Amino acid sequence: MSFDQPTQEYPSIDSNLHVAVIMDGNGRWAKNRGWPRLVGHRKGAERVRELVAACPGLGIRYLTLYAFSTENWKRTTEEVMGLMSLFARYIKREAARMNREGVRMRVIGDRSRLDPKLAGLIDWIEQETAGNDTVHLTVAMNYGGRDEIARTMKFLAREVAEGRIAPEDITEAMISDRLDTRFLPDPDLVVRSSGETRVSNFLLWQAAYSEYVFSPVLWPDFTPDTMQTILHAFHMRERRFGGVTV
Ligand code: IPE
Ligand code: IPE
Ligand code: MG
Repeated sequence: MSFDQPTQEYPSIDSNLHVAVIMDGNGRWAKNRGWPRLVGHRKGAERVRELVAACPGLGIRYLTLYAFSTENWKRTTEEVMGLMSLFARYIKREAARMNREGVRMRVIGDRSRLDPKLAGLIDWIEQETAGNDTVHLTVAMNYGGRDEIARTMKFLAREVAEGRIAPEDITEAMISDRLDTRFLPDPDLVVRSSGETRVSNFLLWQAAYSEYVFSPVLWPDFTPDTMQTILHAFHMRERRFGGVTV
């Protein structure tokens, strides 16, 4: 299948789903073939392109992808640099297509540790796609749930110190409104590929009531069909949010 073609297989369904994905397994996929880890990451980026294009047909309005965690700096310089340049290349190569397909791209995470050139590119793509509303693609880059909460708490503490907020007036909504994800609804579904069954510091606050699906498929093998099967299982679940259904 060519990545240039819109996915035709899925009938458009009216849905504003927010699906968040922990894209895992690129390294193992490459290792299984005796290839460098970066080859797996490159293949993984192709899967991203394909999935973004398939979102309208899958009923996904908000797609949030975990691309680089605050813990991923522990990897070799070669891999870290490789991931960063892959990300930059994705932005440059996909900008026109995103505008064609109505994709609004935003980035969450701590940008202050990113290379200034990459940070500039992120600012650029956010502005470039700001008028789009069909699919909201959010990429988590140097993102950690705990880091995000700590930064948000610092921000709130400053507001308190400056006398703009009284501590007893702080609500859950006020915290949500100050997180990196303030422009997003909470995820309905969090998917993790590669068979690992942990959260790895992703959307800790936001996923309080999300459904989780753990797929054995390694990310470079993860297609829109894989997502459709997962969504089918998700739609069969009953979400109770702490209540009781009769
Ligand atoms: C991709 O998969 C996730 C990123 C951190 C970019 P990994 O690189 O973690 O692959 P595995 O888990 O080693 O197979
Ligand atoms: C989570 O995957 C982070 C991303 C997908 C970007 P990792 O491979 O870094 O997580 P661990 O090390 O298995 O927890
Ligand atoms: Mg991994």
